[in-house]
Amino acid sequence: MVNEYEIKKEICDIGKRIYNRGMVASNDGNISVKLNDHEFLCTPTGVSKGFMTPEFICKVDENGNVLQANKGFKPSSEIKMHMRVYKERPDVNSVVHAHPMYATSFAIAGIPLTQPIMPEAVIALGCVPIAEYGTPSTNEIPDAVSKYLQHFDAVLLANHGALAYSDSLLNAYHKMESVEFYAQLLFLSKQLGGPKELSKEQVERLYEIRRKFGMKGKHPADLCPNAKEGKPSCHSCGGCSSGKSASDADLVSEITKKVMKELGL
Ligand code: 13P
Repeated sequence: MVNEYEIKKEICDIGKRIYNRGMVASNDGNISVKLNDHEFLCTPTGVSKGFMTPEFICKVDENGNVLQANKGFKPSSEIKMHMRVYKERPDVNSVVHAHPMYATSFAIAGIPLTQPIMPEAVIALGCVPIAEYGTPSTNEIPDAVSKYLQHFDAVLLANHGALAYSDSLLNAYHKMESVEFYAQLLFLSKQLGGPKELSKEQVERLYEIRRKFGMKGKHPADLCPNAKEGKPSCHSCGGCSSGKSASDADLVSEITKKVMKELGL
């Protein structure tokens, strides 16, 4: 039995983290958590996510209709975007939307995060595409994001921000942190004359390790090996994933150590 109050407190804690880390300004950003197929908790619209208390948090159904909200609070204006992620990704239990400085700058410049520059980013994210621009609060953003949902666990939103989702609120937040860290490193290394990218072989070894560990979520490493032989890709067949589960953060740290050792770094 989930303790809703505890989850509301956790949403407030993550709200503080995204605000205190400068991943959102003012009242920006939104967070949601799936309780079950018909009930979801979400942040209210128009409040600073850095100063929320549990009574701010709203409850909605799978269509974004209000099930419970305290006086003065309405669900996030981006609730349709969150609901589309849950609808199309049944493995997702939490969605975090923010406007982190570096990732959002890439989204504004129209540059997706695709350069393989460090093992953690390659293993955790692979790459981060940019979903086409949509007007906030309309179905344009959910529609734009939709085509990336089956292949990635984080996307940039053109001229807007970033979206990350995972099996838990903490993992969704960590995904957002990884996106921003990757964007920041990419930006800074570009100032230093341009990053020296990992080779195709190094990337493939990282992908292989990710597959071996059976990490959850969607990732370019999960492309069916048949795709490499010129046969059609089979993202949805499930044959590539081992079905094992593990915490993303623990795995990334363990894998990274091994990979760094193997690469002699
Ligand atoms: P809400 O306060 O309605 O969640 O909107 C914030 C935001 O960042 C919209 O993109």
